[in-house]
Amino acid sequence: MRIASATAVMVTILMLDGLPANAAVNALQLFHANCAVCHAPRIEKIGPALADMPGNINELNRTIYGGRKLMPAFRNRLSDEEIQALVEYIRIFRKKVQ
Ligand code: HEC
Repeated sequence: MRIASATAVMVTILMLDGLPANAAVNALQLFHANCAVCHAPRIEKIGPALADMPGNINELNRTIYGGRKLMPAFRNRLSDEEIQALVEYIRIFRKKVQ
């Protein structure tokens, strides 16, 4: 789990000036609990790396709510607030790595 915690630290640093502290921590935890198994950067993965996800809000919402091919739908697994936190998290992460 060394790689995962290094990733968490890196992502936390990237996040801190982008969102209020509570929202950043919440989105980070949500991402690691629900998404990182398939999307964490630099780990052999099933889905695209976080940095390669599109920044488009509609696309992100559609994919996370409804799922996509191998990716499960999260509309019954996460609340609207949690999904919106993840959408923001992905968009801010994308801006920082571009
Ligand atoms: C079981 C593995 C799995 C999990 C868990 C998972 N995904 Fe995915 N995700 C995928 C796969 C596979 C794709 C690529 C689908 C395709 O081929 O179009 C994908 C695609 C995406 C895309 C579109 C990326 C693009 O380039 O178009 C987004 C955004 C995304 N996932 C976000 C999330 C978020 C946020 C979570 C957690 C709530 C999550 N995923 C959980 C497997 C997963």
